[in-house]
Amino acid sequence: MKLPILIHPDPRLKKVCAPVDDLSDELRTLAEDMLETMYDAPGVGLAAPQIGVLSRLIVLDCIKDEEEPPRPVVMFNPEVVASSDEKNVYEEGCLSIPEQFAEVTRPKVVDVRWIGMDGNEHSETFDGLWATCVQHEIDHLNGKLFIDYLGAMKRQLITRKMQKLKREKARA
Ligand code: NI
Repeated sequence: MKLPILIHPDPRLKKVCAPVDDLSDELRTLAEDMLETMYDAPGVGLAAPQIGVLSRLIVLDCIKDEEEPPRPVVMFNPEVVASSDEKNVYEEGCLSIPEQFAEVTRPKVVDVRWIGMDGNEHSETFDGLWATCVQHEIDHLNGKLFIDYLGAMKRQLITRKMQKLKREKARA
């Protein structure tokens, strides 16, 4: 089932999300719905607060090549356990901030630990777009958006655009 995505500014996008301590069927269904919502958008990542659920759950698939098979990844309680000194700059966007993009600098390589759909602990080293995306999504679980890395002027400009977009949507 496709879920509606919250648009910034929204107080739910600024909250620190609670850890998941029990992998219920409900949470697994939610993860499936989030993947469907992400692929439909389309996007490369989605965090639970973006659909109004304040739990530490993210989904991602950064395979951009249509020739390659998709790789849907579901992470409960994801954690960056190590990050490289080397940085990388990516032009980021966010499904909660539609059609706005800005360059963000983050560690190029990160080691991430999480609980998978199988209930087991997983860990993997991510690089490139995967590293950017997983850091962006984990930020969401801490109430942080990519525009929080920008200067105040740029952030306010984008926020005003989103407020206008929301007013237009409300009228439509
Ligand atoms: Ni985002």
